[in-house]
Amino acid sequence: MDKIVALSKRRGFVFPSSEIYGGLASSYDYGHYGVLLKDNVKARWLEAMVRERDDIVALDSSIILHPRVWEASGHVSGFSDPLVDCRTCKQRFRADHLADPEHEEVRCGKRPSKRPGETPVCDLTEPRQFNLMFQTRVGAVEETGVDVYLRPETAQGIFINFKNVAQIARRKPPFGIAQVGKAFRNEITPGNFIFRTLEFEQMEMEYFVPPDEADEWYRYWVDERYRWHLRYGVRESHLRVRPHEAEELSHYSSGTSDIEYLFPIGWSELEGIANRGDFDLTQHAEFSGTKLEYVDTATGERYVPHVIEPAAGVGRTVLALLCDAYDEDDIGGEQRTVLRLAPHIAPIKVAVLPLVNKDGQPEKARAIYEQLRELWPTEYDAGGSIGKRYRRQDEIGTPWGVTVDGQTGEDRTVTLRDRDSLEQVRVPLDELGDELGRRLADPWRS
Ligand code: GAP
Repeated sequence: MDKIVALSKRRGFVFPSSEIYGGLASSYDYGHYGVLLKDNVKARWLEAMVRERDDIVALDSSIILHPRVWEASGHVSGFSDPLVDCRTCKQRFRADHLADPEHEEVRCGKRPSKRPGETPVCDLTEPRQFNLMFQTRVGAVEETGVDVYLRPETAQGIFINFKNVAQIARRKPPFGIAQVGKAFRNEITPGNFIFRTLEFEQMEMEYFVPPDEADEWYRYWVDERYRWHLRYGVRESHLRVRPHEAEELSHYSSGTSDIEYLFPIGWSELEGIANRGDFDLTQHAEFSGTKLEYVDTATGERYVPHVIEPAAGVGRTVLALLCDAYDEDDIGGEQRTVLRLAPHIAPIKVAVLPLVNKDGQPEKARAIYEQLRELWPTEYDAGGSIGKRYRRQDEIGTPWGVTVDGQTGEDRTVTLRDRDSLEQVRVPLDELGDELGRRLADPWRS
């Protein structure tokens, strides 16, 4: 994890937030390559969920919703962690992590570092429930304002729009509503870089189905989402599906499976797929007084659809992709760090480099760059030795490098370098676009 954090900072993927003020726990800012990488993850998700299908539509709901939404969803009463405080070291711990061997990393703030409660000076409070939702106020005047919450999940914005979408998009179950957006949780346990943050983006889809088809669709979505992660290069040996035990299930769920990734911190949740039954639509119907059901106008059949929910985190997916792609190898006695990112995920697809900064090579390289950037995210890089520039592109995961050299002026060919095989071939300039397009369309092999 230290290597991933260092590379992310060095190459401008992710920075600790508010760093010049000493940082803010569990908060990170995405730099240029981080934004491009994150955008690619979201685009691939929307592609698989919306663009390539006929049965799912998109939504972008508000972050601040009517406060009753969170009463209906159970978040006001139930979305909380049991916490204990240490009066000596002032740290806060999840009560359920204290004796849990899976959470050996939880340590007291005093030396010698032991489990909280084991250091002689430890003075722990009784567990107290702590709601994870951030609260704020809407209204011009403090006294007359209304308490509202920043959404802790995007899902509820979807449920409360069920009627709008079902009627206006004239959808009949099975159909889904997909949303990508920010969510906020007042997380107090250590974040492990971007694995757990206060502010994060979710990619959630609520799939509304006839009640008697729920089990079948639940299995379908577990498989479908597992395959999506493999499609973008995550190693099969680093990915698994873990069905929840009965006692782990959320109050609304009759079945949940986590897709887990083997992060450097161990197997941890990357995405959850839940069979939420009719809990959400029934609750919102009761709290709002609006009927949320499907009515077949031809047959008169009516029912409250059940919901299957695949819910993934953008930051967690970015972290899994970075961990899986990170590699170190040896080129002619020199160590290189390389991100073997799938081309569809890589922030930059192709870098164009003049071999030397003279003899008209920079001008030729720049002209090629200007053509290619109309097709794909491309970078022009003329600073430093060619070796250094290759290393830089390898570290940001650019799959291909195009080098303009002395021969380019003579026969209008360039060198095309492959990041992973290190193979270099000469390609006529007129064929470069087609060749890159062909390589990009090839199925990805890690
Ligand atoms: N609507 C269901 C729901 O929100 P969740 O398992 O709490 O379920 C779904 O969240 C996904 O959102 C998780 O699998 C994870 O990828 C991401 N996620 C949740 N909390 C997060 C946090 N504090 N920081 C980063 N990602 C988080």
